[in-house]
Amino acid sequence: MHPRVLSGMRPTGPLHLGHLVGALDNWRTLQQEYDCFFMVADYHALMSEYEHPERIRVWSYETVIDWLAAGVDPKRSVVFRQSDVSEHAELFAILSIVTPLGWVERVPTYKEQLREIQGRDLATYGFLGYPILQAADILLYRAAAVPVGEDQLPHLELTREIVRRVHFLTKAELFPEPKSLLTQAPKLLGTDGRKMSKSYGNTIALSESPDSIRALVQKMFTDPLRIKRTDFGHPETCNVCNYWKLFLPNQYEKIWEECRSASRGCVQNKQELAEHVIQLTEPFREARKKFATESGEYSQIEKLLQEGAQRARDVACATLADVKRAFGLKPAHGKTG
Ligand code: TRP
Repeated sequence: MHPRVLSGMRPTGPLHLGHLVGALDNWRTLQQEYDCFFMVADYHALMSEYEHPERIRVWSYETVIDWLAAGVDPKRSVVFRQSDVSEHAELFAILSIVTPLGWVERVPTYKEQLREIQGRDLATYGFLGYPILQAADILLYRAAAVPVGEDQLPHLELTREIVRRVHFLTKAELFPEPKSLLTQAPKLLGTDGRKMSKSYGNTIALSESPDSIRALVQKMFTDPLRIKRTDFGHPETCNVCNYWKLFLPNQYEKIWEECRSASRGCVQNKQELAEHVIQLTEPFREARKKFATESGEYSQIEKLLQEGAQRARDVACATLADVKRAFGLKPAHGKTG
């Protein structure tokens, strides 16, 4: 059997190019070497969207559609929705009991989000526990490794600390300490040159229409020192050129050279990039024609998620039973021993 991997995404809006190069390309290839669990983290989404939860359900379906289009194979990998597997909530409760308050209060993402995110009240009891729920996600499947971006490393470190604490308290060996699998891809910046993020409104969604892609790319910043068409360009500092580098790692040099020698102008550069992105995202628009039914029911995706939940539950149930037993509680379903 292959080592197990678990990762998840929060369904808080349309997935964008950053998700593709930062995570999904990686997920697709991980499937060859690992036994993969890919989870729609809808409880995590609810933690920040609870004031307007009506779109979480649809976003969950849309997220899965993008995963499929990116090459996630639900026959090979377990694709499921967190809230379908109630063991997540139960293990979260148990881990919350043993995790010292100081450990979660000092998690940098927590402090940062409280400070940065405006227009929402994130000062809830549940949101403080965000990384504990994430630990529960990982530990329920006894994942050996977790593919994440750098921003998630503190959550993984906390998960390992929780593992050690549980083992100390129960004198049992319940979980492996999960390792991180950092994505190699360098960061794709947003269309305005800042970090690509939905809250900055600088993303290009994977499901974006061709016209909208052209408009968004047209607005992208280029080399600030290149003012006239005849000025020599500095591709290293041009966001459009850096997209080329990421999308065409073997061919971008030619484009960069044309920019440096001013034989390629910024307008042409953007037009060609837009057409490239349109081509790259074609499978995502196609997948929508296939799965997002006009009635808006997403019944094929729902069916796939139910099958995934069944497979996830088999593993989660067995782990939770072991944990409950180790803490002197009686396992409900008695899956094992
Ligand atoms: N917190 C992760 C993010 O925002 C999403 C997530 C939830 C996750 N549970 C997880 C990632 C478990 C990895 C493993 O990106």
